[in-house]
Amino acid sequence: MTAAGAEPGTRVTTGALGVPWSAGARRRDDGVVEVAEVGVDALAAEHGTPAYVLDETDFRARARGYRTAFATAFAEVGTGVDVYYAGKALLTVAVARWAREEGLRVDTASGGELAVALRAGVPGAEIGLHGNNKSDDEILAALAAGVGRIIVDSLVEIDRVAALAASRGLVAPVMVRVTTGVHAGGHEYISTAHEDQKFGLSVNPGPGGGDAPAMRGLLAVVERPELRLLGIHSHIGSQILDPAGFEAAARVVLRLRAELAERTGVLVDEVDLGGGYGIAYLPGEVPLDPDRIAKDVASAVAAVCAELGTPLPRLSVEPGRAIVGPAGLTLYTVGTVKPVALDDGRVRTYVSVDGGMSDNIRPALYEAQYHAELVGRVSSAEPVLARVVGKHCESGDIVVHETWLPGDVRAGDLLAVAATGAYGRSMASNYNLLTRPPVVAVADGASRVLVRRETVDDLLALDQG
Ligand code: LLP
Repeated sequence: MTAAGAEPGTRVTTGALGVPWSAGARRRDDGVVEVAEVGVDALAAEHGTPAYVLDETDFRARARGYRTAFATAFAEVGTGVDVYYAGKALLTVAVARWAREEGLRVDTASGGELAVALRAGVPGAEIGLHGNNKSDDEILAALAAGVGRIIVDSLVEIDRVAALAASRGLVAPVMVRVTTGVHAGGHEYISTAHEDQKFGLSVNPGPGGGDAPAMRGLLAVVERPELRLLGIHSHIGSQILDPAGFEAAARVVLRLRAELAERTGVLVDEVDLGGGYGIAYLPGEVPLDPDRIAKDVASAVAAVCAELGTPLPRLSVEPGRAIVGPAGLTLYTVGTVKPVALDDGRVRTYVSVDGGMSDNIRPALYEAQYHAELVGRVSSAEPVLARVVGKHCESGDIVVHETWLPGDVRAGDLLAVAATGAYGRSMASNYNLLTRPPVVAVADGASRVLVRRETVDDLLALDQG
């Protein structure tokens, strides 16, 4: 529990850290934070900083939680569901294995993600391949692996997948990604189903009239012997905190399914409603509850199918962030601490850490907010208004825009940022030729490197001079 009156980031009490940290994060009596019973001091000593620390038990619990919530809710309305872990949030061989062991399938969005899922032993049939601009090589790799579904994203891609499948004498299982016009999610860059963007085929007819691109795509797939139409896919955005968007999108997709059945006699078996479930990044924020979202979506799907007089499809969903986001934290070491006088007379303490926008681009890209705490000790010093910044040559290199930290924060302190498990490592760069941090898993009092730290030698090895 946080001491009454303490500013965020300056808590002095012990015990579970709670939201937005992983379930295994707690502050010990000696003031050091541990994750799954491994102290961050030991993690820093063994693995160095910065490091992505992943609470395996928490990841598994969230994966199971989503699977159980959806399986229960959809069984209640009389159909089945598959939960795909969206690997774009973070994919390593171990992470893909954990997802599979917890009963999830794996959604990939590139040849690289597909290769990692396959290396993890995920059967091709349990993998989906996405992408708005897949290369021939990626499509061929997916076909060779026997992936369960290729989600086609454009009319030209339908032709390409058909031709590539024909060249291998195969029939490709495809879903058609449609855009429903439902606009949901956090930042504009991560909401995907409004009209003016690159994904999917619109359900609305274009200015020329005639069939909407979505219907044209479905008809094109139905006509091709090299393609097997599994169903319709919709992903409306990311970091969505209101289930209404999923219900609205489900309505549009189910109507389209009924219309296709009416026109062609083909009633597709599956509907995929994508991912996008929002999480807490700051203390006090309330994440979407998997049970609630599953129930709401299941009852909306059942109601619309009853209304349309169509049998229920099998559903699938693709959560990424909601499974891995809260399971991860980033551990940094504090370096330079600099008080800067603001125009309004206040002082902001700039606390520099040994990483920054190369390990977490989200604050710079989406103005994303994060929560940081000193995790190597407690302090009773007066809190100061602080900004946690990285070590890059750019003033937008901000890790936590505004927070409170103990006034005696100093070089050598360990600082952790919560809920960085999703889209941190997966969007990391080598800006300023920093080496990317390792991904370290912790479980039952032990740590294990899942992805090792990059070295300068790795960088030099890529450079051909
Ligand atoms: N399925 C599809 C087709 C997607 O495009 C995405 C995310 C997901 C599933 C998983 O969404 P999630 O459950 O993780 O929200 N880089 C951004 C997020 C971009 C998400 C792109 N697509 C961020 O850092 O917020």
